Amino acid sequence: MEFKIVQKTGKGALLFILDKEEQLAQTGLSDVQIKFVKDTFSKEQTSVSINQYSHYVFVYLIKEKKTAWQTTEAIRKVGADFCGVLNKHKLAEITIQNLSATTNAAFILAEGMTLANYQFLKYRADVKKKTNSLTLINFTKQSITVKDCNQLNIITDAICKARTLVNEPLNYLSAVQLAKEISLMGKDAGFKVTTLHKAQIVKEKMGGILAVNRGSIQPPTFSVMEYKPAKSLNKKPIVLVGKGIVYDTGGLSLKPTPASMDRMKSDMSGAALVSGAMYAIAKMKLPLHVIALVPATDNRPGEEAYVPGDIITMYNGTTVEVLNTDAEGRLVLGDALHWAKRYKPELVIDFATLTGAASVAVGEHGIVCMGTADDATKKAFAQSGFNQYERLVEYPLWDEYGEMIKSDFADLKNIGGPSGGAITAGKFLEHFTDYPWMHFDIAGVSFATSKKGYIPSGGTGYGMRMLLDFLMNYGKA
Ligand code: BES
Ligand code: ZN
Ligand code: ZN
Repeated sequence: MEFKIVQKTGKGALLFILDKEEQLAQTGLSDVQIKFVKDTFSKEQTSVSINQYSHYVFVYLIKEKKTAWQTTEAIRKVGADFCGVLNKHKLAEITIQNLSATTNAAFILAEGMTLANYQFLKYRADVKKKTNSLTLINFTKQSITVKDCNQLNIITDAICKARTLVNEPLNYLSAVQLAKEISLMGKDAGFKVTTLHKAQIVKEKMGGILAVNRGSIQPPTFSVMEYKPAKSLNKKPIVLVGKGIVYDTGGLSLKPTPASMDRMKSDMSGAALVSGAMYAIAKMKLPLHVIALVPATDNRPGEEAYVPGDIITMYNGTTVEVLNTDAEGRLVLGDALHWAKRYKPELVIDFATLTGAASVAVGEHGIVCMGTADDATKKAFAQSGFNQYERLVEYPLWDEYGEMIKSDFADLKNIGGPSGGAITAGKFLEHFTDYPWMHFDIAGVSFATSKKGYIPSGGTGYGMRMLLDFLMNYGKA
């Protein structure tokens, strides 16, 4: 999507945002039209479209919800609805004029519109026919600031990039290809990328990544991204970590196909999220020193595959009895979390499609999180979750869950019991941390089976707005 700030409304489609009916007087609509709009509003409908022959005029009346964040989400959803209408009418552009007192209404509505306009048509023959007509959103000068317009562009772009990475299948997006895509994003946005290839991963003795990679015919990668502005609010870096399992068959503990293995190209959603976030952080030039780590491989049951019962040695020396090769995410993340210690980080934040248990617990409506960060940090995250409607549910890291991953033969085992699966996975990760840390299990939200509002089918990019909101407010409180 392209965004522009215009001096005057042109001849194309127009969308007015109001929060009071009186503002209709400022729209330039005729008395008859205004009466029509008011009549429609009185029927509990909040958006109206008027076909003026030469162009369309849309009017949307914001209705306050119980909380500000619920109102915001309603505006986002209306943006998605308008996106559908504009594409149905084959319109290429729209000009938004915000007449309401909600200062960010145009931003939010355009955000919903842009996120809903996302498509992944790379592999389709009917691309031309299918491609959405909408390509440009104009704002009148009073409707958005130059800075916000720029941020909207970058944030929606980052989300779309993350979605595309998730949507790319394994036969394109191997671990090596993922590392290449990350390098390209670094060049584009202006952050440094170092890729460790298999030989270096072997030399480092990253035993978790190597164990998971053993059944694969393709080598693993470990990407290190760094954005360091001249002046930053944080003295020590913030480190992001993203699970980069480019495909999860489960390994020898093979997954069933329907509604399980069939969506496992999305098991690198954490990686997509943190690299997309780095892209946005660098493009927005946030005053933060941020590093991101992506351990990547597919998890396959090849001839050399690790087997249940194997005892492996992780990067930090911890031995792990592998009792289920499908609990592979924690093994690659454990190595990355150990790597993060070298930076003496202020905060480490990981994103991972880690457990079916998290998905079962909250479904597609929120993220399961846990961690050792202080209360102020957790509060800030929770607030960002509400602000962006990517809500968080915190789970406890009680000692008893740690007992559940103790092994008779090794320091740890890679599965807990039949219950508390999201937490035992979190406890496993905690073992590799010695710094303030937050873990976000995005298993339930990262991939959608059907389009809903501004969330498309396939990769969703869910969590990105929450994370960026948190970072944009970081150090300001
Ligand atoms: N990638 C899966 C988790 C997952 C499930 C992501 C559903 C997205 C949707 C992960 O590697 C996995 O298989 N976890 C196992 C762990 C279990 C064997 C302890 C799970 O949750 O079933
Ligand atoms: Zn798995
Ligand atoms: Zn997995």
